[in-house]
Amino acid sequence: MAKLEILEFPDPRLREPGKTIEQVDDKLRALIDDMFETMYAADGCGLAATQVNIQKRLFIMDFSSDQEEPLVFINPEITPLTEEPSEFGEGCLSVPGFYENLNRPNRIKVKALNRDGEEFEAEFEGLPAVCIQHENDHLDGRLFVDYLSKFKRDRIRKKLEKNQRLAAGR
Ligand code: NI
Repeated sequence: MAKLEILEFPDPRLREPGKTIEQVDDKLRALIDDMFETMYAADGCGLAATQVNIQKRLFIMDFSSDQEEPLVFINPEITPLTEEPSEFGEGCLSVPGFYENLNRPNRIKVKALNRDGEEFEAEFEGLPAVCIQHENDHLDGRLFVDYLSKFKRDRIRKKLEKNQRLAAGR
């Protein structure tokens, strides 16, 4: 297994939409294992392939406190089941250090393939439903900062660009 580099906003590669996955094979499962290692090391609860510069429709999650409930969503299709919004503070490993309250539908249905390539359907409510919508947005090149005002988004972008320059020693 290997830890992967997580792209950070405003990296343009985060804007590229993911392609449908045609084959769930050992190569894909190796990527999934690397993504879990990367997510756990970064203390995150969700990670999309887009964030590690792989333009494929795949994301992973784990809401448990001790890394015991790994969830894999391949080619996910999401249907909102309610218009009732749910407000949560959202953060993102690609937007480190920033948390903002957003509203998203509170209940959703997801159809996807698991790591064995088997189709499953499940309903989620509250925080997991919000996280799934957040991760699915990554597969369309969308970030949670896109839902904020331009003023707030620009402020976050400038701070992150500054941090990135400092980290690169420029
Ligand atoms: Ni994210």
